[in-house]
Amino acid sequence: MKGVILAGGLGSRLQPCTLVTNKHLLPVYDKPMIYYPLQALINAGIDDILIVTGGHFAGDFLKLLGNGKDFGLRHLNYSYQEGEGGIADALSLAEYFAGDDSVCVILGDNIIEGNIRESADAFRKQGGGARILLKEVHDAERFGVAEVDHGRIVSIEEKPAKPKSNLAVTGIYFYDNTVFDFIRSIEPSVRGELEITDVNNLYVKRGNLYYDVLKGWWTDAGTFGSLQRATNLVAETGANLMSL
Ligand code: G1P
Repeated sequence: MKGVILAGGLGSRLQPCTLVTNKHLLPVYDKPMIYYPLQALINAGIDDILIVTGGHFAGDFLKLLGNGKDFGLRHLNYSYQEGEGGIADALSLAEYFAGDDSVCVILGDNIIEGNIRESADAFRKQGGGARILLKEVHDAERFGVAEVDHGRIVSIEEKPAKPKSNLAVTGIYFYDNTVFDFIRSIEPSVRGELEITDVNNLYVKRGNLYYDVLKGWWTDAGTFGSLQRATNLVAETGANLMSL
């Protein structure tokens, strides 16, 4: 399985800071944001990794991470997203990198306390389809929200005004190779983006979207509120970067 970190976007919810750098290079406590999802993949045993980024500051990822030596990697792959097509559009750039393999995708602003290795193992064993990680939250309307019935995902709604559950879809997804066909088949949403939620719902329709509820804390860091929360959580607990 290969790893893909999606680290593009305008970071418009973090302006003016993101006028002079990419959101994923901003500090979360004492490390750049991108360190956390990168370490999360490595902790799960995934070390063939592609970073998809874009915008004016893409070169700074190379300056910061190089070939990933500080993380014990020998090589890192990079891809450049033209424009602002959304998460699924960014993921489509990983098709060439994935080849016939499956992928573990993590959004560059998602930070976790624990390890996703168990989910990676479960995904390998399930034999195709997709697997996503859910987390109980108090503000589900900010996220994709999963409706779950008897251990199965019935549907996912993107930022619903009235969430059907408190289970947010985190930005950590395992996909088999059909994900790239699914991305080709979806249309942009009202916010003009190819939504990862639409991709996940195609797996729901096929009956092969599985899930785990993440253990330990999870946060995104794409707004000033969540960035502060992320910083506080990392400062208090060390997140998954203690070894660095
Ligand atoms: C994206 C996804 C959403 C998911 C969230 C997790 O939202 O669209 O389904 O719950 O990431 O961080 P965005 O941050 O692009 O608004």
